[in-house]
Amino acid sequence: MRVGILGSGLMGAKLGTIWARAGHEVVFSYARSKQKLEKLAREATAKARAGTPAEAAQNADALLLAVHWSRVDDVLKQAGDVSGKIIVTCSLPMNADDSDLVIAHTSSGAEALAKKVPKARVVSAFGTVPSEVLFGVFAAKRKASRPSLVYCGDNESSKTVAAELIRDVGFDPVDAGPLRIARYTEPFTLLIARLAYEGDGGPELAYRFERFGRKG
Ligand SMILES: NC(=O)c1ccc[n+]([C@@H]2O[C@H](COP(=O)([O-])OP(=O)(O)OC[C@H]3O[C@@H](n4cnc5c(N)ncnc54)[C@H](OP(=O)(O)O)[C@@H]3O)[C@@H](O)[C@H]2O)c1
Repeated sequence: MRVGILGSGLMGAKLGTIWARAGHEVVFSYARSKQKLEKLAREATAKARAGTPAEAAQNADALLLAVHWSRVDDVLKQAGDVSGKIIVTCSLPMNADDSDLVIAHTSSGAEALAKKVPKARVVSAFGTVPSEVLFGVFAAKRKASRPSLVYCGDNESSKTVAAELIRDVGFDPVDAGPLRIARYTEPFTLLIARLAYEGDGGPELAYRFERFGRKG
């Protein structure tokens, strides 16, 4: 797959590196320095390169949107026409100091994004785990018991693509339903962040849903 990374910070740099190592063609874009993007591409694999958001979007099978909420309009403007594109978003609608959600309960960041780009196909994924856990999950990919990762969206074929990208990182994709379920997954992330950053165990935290007592 060709994957365009819109926002090559903590989340975008790591996910892009993992997908490149999993065999995808990755274009890293949107950082404050071109050198950073070039270094990321060099260290990821031969199949990764640095580019502008427009280059990342061009011919992409999927785009990862991984910027602070305050940068969403800017990066989308730089990406250009994203009609028909699959946009996997991990971006949370956080305020300037990242202390609270600015959209919640009655809508979600993912739904607000879908309204901004009505011709794109938005899937919400990866926003529920801290960036610190991603390389560890990738390294443990061959193990039988994988951590879960919830995702949601309104377009089935885009969700199939997102599930593949989730599996490539080493998670077990959990289809949570339509995009409006991001109203619940986004606040859930604040719980995860609390446990990751304020708890004693460190930020390398993932979660796993299990069912018990099911017959057959
Ligand atoms: N970090 C996490 O663990 C985590 C977990 C779940 C969800 N999220 C969400 O995922 C999204 C991305 O988070 P993140 O932690 O990856 O953010 P981040 O590290 O701040 O990365 C954002 C990227 O945007 C770039 N950027 C910012 N301002 C720019 C500008 N004016 N021009 C060009 N590039 C600019 C940054 O450039 P530089 O590289 O030069 O800084 C960086 O590459 C956020 O919405 C966050 O809420 C994050």
